[in-house]
Amino acid sequence: MAPVVDVHTHIYPPAYVSLLRSRTDVPYMRTFADNPSAGERLVILPSEDAATSTARGRPIGPEYYEEEEKIKFMDKHNIDISVISLANPWLDWCDASDAASVATQINDDVEQVCSRHPGRLYAFGTLPLSAGADAVVAEIKRLTTLSHFRGVIIGTSGLGNGLDDPALEPIWAALQSTKQLVFLHPHYGLPASVYGDRAAEYGHVLPLALGFPLETTIAITRAILSGVFDKFPGLEMLLAHSGGTLPFLAGRIESCIAHDGHLKQASKIAGRRSIWDILKANIYLDAVVYGEAGLKAAMEASGKDRLMFGTDHPFFPPLEDEDNEWLSVKTNEKAVSGVFGSDDQGRDDVMGGNAVRVLRLG
Ligand code: URA
Ligand code: ZN
Repeated sequence: MAPVVDVHTHIYPPAYVSLLRSRTDVPYMRTFADNPSAGERLVILPSEDAATSTARGRPIGPEYYEEEEKIKFMDKHNIDISVISLANPWLDWCDASDAASVATQINDDVEQVCSRHPGRLYAFGTLPLSAGADAVVAEIKRLTTLSHFRGVIIGTSGLGNGLDDPALEPIWAALQSTKQLVFLHPHYGLPASVYGDRAAEYGHVLPLALGFPLETTIAITRAILSGVFDKFPGLEMLLAHSGGTLPFLAGRIESCIAHDGHLKQASKIAGRRSIWDILKANIYLDAVVYGEAGLKAAMEASGKDRLMFGTDHPFFPPLEDEDNEWLSVKTNEKAVSGVFGSDDQGRDDVMGGNAVRVLRLG
């Protein structure tokens, strides 16, 4: 049987934690004098930084930054291999003059973490996007000299103007030629106004359940519309949360393209690759969707050989009894088992076989 592999699992390595602890602007980590019993808090979104709140940000403990906690979590959930990535908001906020050296330090930190757990940990690298394309390309090339990296994690903002920005082309070219997978992950969500006046009553549900996946959907659709995968047919991306809503909406997006007079006039329809083709040749989807309907859409859109199990650890811990198995993990495992029924090979491939093949693990 193939090992169980978690391709969507985060860590804030020591170099990143020190940085967050040294900061007072978002993103930062600290305890608050007016609420010390809440412990250390992680504040990564401007909306979490409300000055009047006594419960700013989210609780953060060793499970976010200690490698032993990752291994303990893996052992408890029978995960053989994890491909760890820095969690949002990565270095998007970093001063251009610091970003390249911070990225190097974080990637070196993560390489050491992986080296201390042979065969169990691999990684997606962090890029100094605020420093511009040349610095990013240099780090992409340097990552190929570190033995545990299999790709990079990026948010949806690219170099600041989203993923349809032509300034990203040298970066796509470098990723394509070094065969590194891009793990595309959300952070910014949607403008707060869409959640309405009562948003605060609903905790983090609207931004996490809907803002995150819609952000991913819009970002990848903009990349597709701009012709990224026509220009870089060998570029491969792993989309977080089963592609947001891309598998469900691919037909509608494709139909809107086919019926768009502006695109036709600009001769942008003939010769372009269809979303269905891109989904089956360039895109991988994680299985972090917590339900069979979403997973079936993902499987239908990309194929069962392109789906990979993930947990999103250390996010979504149980609200009680954190020492027990995590509900979020069990829900994803159950969805995979439910969708594959008696197709044991298909289930094992999603749980790890596909990741071993695609990411050259072991
Ligand atoms: N919340 C985050 O900020 N990031 C994740 O990856 C999951 C939940
Ligand atoms: Zn995540």
